[in-house]
Amino acid sequence: MCGIVGYIGTRDCVELLLSGLESLEYRGYDSAGIAVLDDNGISIRKEKGRLSGLREILESRPLHGNIGIGHTRWATHGVPSAKNSHPHTNQDGTIAVVHNGIIENHEALKKFLIEKGYNFVSETDTEVIPNLIDYYYEGDLLTAVRKAAKKLDGSYAIGVIAAAEPDRIIAVRKDSPLIVGLTDDGNFIASDIPAILSETRDVYLLNDGEFVTLKKDSVAICDIDENPISKEIYRVQFSAQASQKEGYDHFMLKEIHEQPQAIRNTLRGRIDKDLNIVLDNIEFSDDIKKIFIVACGTAYHAGLVGKKAIETLAKIPCEVCLASEFRYGEPLINKDTAVLVVSQSGETADTLAVLRMAKKLGNKVYAITNVVGSSVAREADYVFYTYAGPEIAVASTKAYTTQLVAFYLFAIYFAEKRKTVPNHVLSDLKNQLLKMDEVAEKILEKAPEIREIAKSLADEHDIYFLGRGLDYIVAMEASLKLKEISYIHSDAYASGELKHGPIALIDDGTVVISICTNPDISNKLSSNVKEVLARGAKTIGFTSCMSDTAAYGDIVELPQIDPLLAPLPAIIPLQMLAYYVCTEKGFDVDKPRNLAKSVTVE
Ligand code: M6R
Repeated sequence: MCGIVGYIGTRDCVELLLSGLESLEYRGYDSAGIAVLDDNGISIRKEKGRLSGLREILESRPLHGNIGIGHTRWATHGVPSAKNSHPHTNQDGTIAVVHNGIIENHEALKKFLIEKGYNFVSETDTEVIPNLIDYYYEGDLLTAVRKAAKKLDGSYAIGVIAAAEPDRIIAVRKDSPLIVGLTDDGNFIASDIPAILSETRDVYLLNDGEFVTLKKDSVAICDIDENPISKEIYRVQFSAQASQKEGYDHFMLKEIHEQPQAIRNTLRGRIDKDLNIVLDNIEFSDDIKKIFIVACGTAYHAGLVGKKAIETLAKIPCEVCLASEFRYGEPLINKDTAVLVVSQSGETADTLAVLRMAKKLGNKVYAITNVVGSSVAREADYVFYTYAGPEIAVASTKAYTTQLVAFYLFAIYFAEKRKTVPNHVLSDLKNQLLKMDEVAEKILEKAPEIREIAKSLADEHDIYFLGRGLDYIVAMEASLKLKEISYIHSDAYASGELKHGPIALIDDGTVVISICTNPDISNKLSSNVKEVLARGAKTIGFTSCMSDTAAYGDIVELPQIDPLLAPLPAIIPLQMLAYYVCTEKGFDVDKPRNLAKSVTVE
């Protein structure tokens, strides 16, 4: 996730680029930069950190010009640093590029270009693009960009300027968003509408494979063979402010809805066309006898699902620990154990402390994290990134589901290596995983029915969640989500434990929400639900086992998939339930009281 913007026209471009980037900061904010073209050629200012840092640099070293491109970065390849910031250029600085996306074949392209005598200065995948354009440049920028694009695998939205052609910006998109904004005194490209909304509401929405030649008084669009494409102008209906959340009322809702894409991004390149699992460059010793999975909060719940998946498929014993407990315990870490930390932010103090402690004790530390360049990412021996994109709402949603994707990939990978499960079983799981984005998309359609249920819960003081096996973990995560944003007291119980104490809490009208995704144990759960029903509970079921539904008042139907994978789609309607209860109560969804997105102190 990055944001790009470009302007060519009669006005000075610098402030236009900066204000465009400001609106795109939600897409990433670990570094920012602009390139401006004037009579002296291309000049670049870029800096690690927020846009404010770039503004300061521009105050001391100003730029002026009528054509420029800008970028705000959410690092994927290469740590956040001035060197890795965009724009990137060819070697002599005559072609500059901003890019959003991932060039999957950048290693091969880099090798090719190095053989042709090109040098590289950054660790990014992007830097191959200006050099490839340079390689193909023979006096026509559009032709060179088209030729370069033919060689690029992966996703990209690209803006290009060249000193030799100071009257144009060339842009193209594939699997990354890009729009064109039209004004009387110039034209824009941008990753998203917010970037240009203060200047115009008239836009072209570009499709994959469309190339744009942007001039100060014209916009031409063509396909990869330069066949012209004509387009209707789209008039934006919403305000600049609302669009910062891309039309969603809250970041949490937006992030819930981004889950299909986040799942796709996390799976991309991790299961190849022959169904082999590719775990980046992560190496696991065959001698690992036990894995300690350590995390906090929602990431801890992801770890609990991970344990079940790894133990079920790969038969490697796992212990899941809260980081805050683990660091003060006496964990039996030795040369046969591995420590796997899970952290969306990569900055959680307790998780980081465990990472350091395990390294000190000589263990290899593996990390699942969402933030490139975070402390966890930098200090772990091996890192698996969830490509969920920036998660802004305090309540974690898309980070969690992508952490589950990571664990499923690990579990299947280990099982394959250790030959603990027949291949056809693993292939089936992989195929189901590859379709998980569609399953998530479908379940999001349930929003209206969940909203109705949420309305009936807003005045409750206590809500209990029940489940067995993996469904108990879903119940725990659902309960955390509900309590952290709605401030309703909530607990989750393993349904078999009810009669050992918690059933004493059940009274007339007590709300009990049950999760059931495993047909093999559904009759056990329904017996427990009937027990609370008999004691006056108001029962709600989130279930894929529709054979025994008599015990539930309200029912939300869950998709029927392999029970091992079921926690992933099952949590999505429960995230929505928490969201709608919170909005019903009128609380601040994205910034709940007393909480922060990243817990960097003990
Ligand atoms: O950034 P991390 O994944 O390390 O954060 C861990 C927890 O602080 C986090 O999951 C927290 O529990 C969320 N607010 C839950 O929605």
